[in-house]
Amino acid sequence: MGKVRVTKNLSILLLLVCSLALNVLFILKRVRVFDDESSSSDELSWSRRPAREAERVAAISCSGHGRAFIDSSLVVDEEEEEEGPVCECNSCYAGSHCQNFLPSCPVNAKSGDPLFLEPFWMENAESSAMMVAGWHRMSYTFKDSGYMSKQLKARLRQMHAIVGNAVTEGRYIIFGSGSTQLINAAVHALSSHNSYSPSLVVPRIPYYSLYKQQTEFFQEVEYKFEDDASLWMNDSATNNLIEIVTSPNNPDGQLNHARLQHPNDKAIYDRFYYWSHFTAISSPADDDIMLFSLSKFIGHAGTRFGWAVVKDETVFTRMSRYLTLNTVGVSHESQLRALRLMKVIIQGKEEETMFDFGYKTMRNRWEKLNDIVSISKRFSLQNIEFQYCNFFHKIRAPSPAFAWLKCLRKEEKDCHAVLAAANIMGCRGSTYGAEDKFVRLSLVGTQDDFDHLLHQVKILISEEKPNRFDSDHIPCDLFSFL
Ligand SMILES: Cc1ncc(COP(=O)(O)O)c(C=O)c1O
Repeated sequence: MGKVRVTKNLSILLLLVCSLALNVLFILKRVRVFDDESSSSDELSWSRRPAREAERVAAISCSGHGRAFIDSSLVVDEEEEEEGPVCECNSCYAGSHCQNFLPSCPVNAKSGDPLFLEPFWMENAESSAMMVAGWHRMSYTFKDSGYMSKQLKARLRQMHAIVGNAVTEGRYIIFGSGSTQLINAAVHALSSHNSYSPSLVVPRIPYYSLYKQQTEFFQEVEYKFEDDASLWMNDSATNNLIEIVTSPNNPDGQLNHARLQHPNDKAIYDRFYYWSHFTAISSPADDDIMLFSLSKFIGHAGTRFGWAVVKDETVFTRMSRYLTLNTVGVSHESQLRALRLMKVIIQGKEEETMFDFGYKTMRNRWEKLNDIVSISKRFSLQNIEFQYCNFFHKIRAPSPAFAWLKCLRKEEKDCHAVLAAANIMGCRGSTYGAEDKFVRLSLVGTQDDFDHLLHQVKILISEEKPNRFDSDHIPCDLFSFL
């Protein structure tokens, strides 16, 4: 009896083991099939390595105060050994991983580098990434469309239609290496082509300093620079005047309009900041020549891509000739990148678009700085109104790219020196043709730059009004009155 039971138990055990083994085999097989399926759907070969490298570099944190770039990991030292990627630290941070803040380092409020948008692109890493094959568009030209990508032109028109900031239907579009190149192309195209009576290039004070530097540097016999558009308002019939109108303006954010009214006068509208993160979009601009750029619009200043929207065919032809002779078009990699990034912006999820991010960031920065400066008797900021924005369909708060700070005390004529003594480095007013009672402070830099600026401005103003920011000196029961 006992022997029979043992044999029976052994058979059951054997059956159990077999069933278990079969199950394990079955599961393993399914996993392998699944694996095979996913690897065949990836079908990655040559792009796998660069993709891995890009992710490896992107994963380096640099303590949140810097970043590592893929080009620094390609550096080969003298012994031909590849170096690892290094952190490039934000201003006033140091250390191999940017872990050290340098408290006595001066605030960098000079640079117009639009790094405030960097977090948005990090958030959208997948959709904005690009893989470029070694043989990507090696030719000088695109098939059937010269130096300019047809697809990119169409995307730019679509973008302007969505934002409602410019009329592009029936207009010519020309690409340039940033709007820096297009400014001179436009000046060249509008100038009189008569050396006896050169055209005068006249921006309105305060103006973006590059207009003066560039016009004087490239000065042809056909045009020259004159400082102040308002001086020429009554004299325009006798001169061929080219007015550069920057709207919104750098440095003071004002929505300028052309001042010169004579039919012979021409205007170049620099619409660099006419995007909803910097200003209200009231209506589509429809100026004869409008300049735009990726730099402050989406933050990719280094891509060096700008475009002009032009009404007149002759002006378009002259500008195109200038650009062809100057650089033979714009880098195809830049055009590809612009195209990819436009797509991300156009397809952004509602309330999470680059415009939402950009506006919120710039508005918060302006609010914080304005709150502090508004209690000062020594400094003031430019006045910018709340305005209805057709893009956001609401009244929006100011969010300029720069603070145009004024020193109010009579004796403080050199405002730049006043701020420098407080460890704040801005750009002096005379750089923009204005008085040195003004200083431009950039608000478009990294969050680190802005936080540092705010901190130093707080200190400067609290010295003027002691204890205002020091809550330790205020008894708790007074808080309700603040
Ligand atoms: C008013 C204005 N126009 C043009 C430029 C030049 O920009 P980019 O050559 O990067 O397009 C700038 C740069 O800050 C600017 O502020």
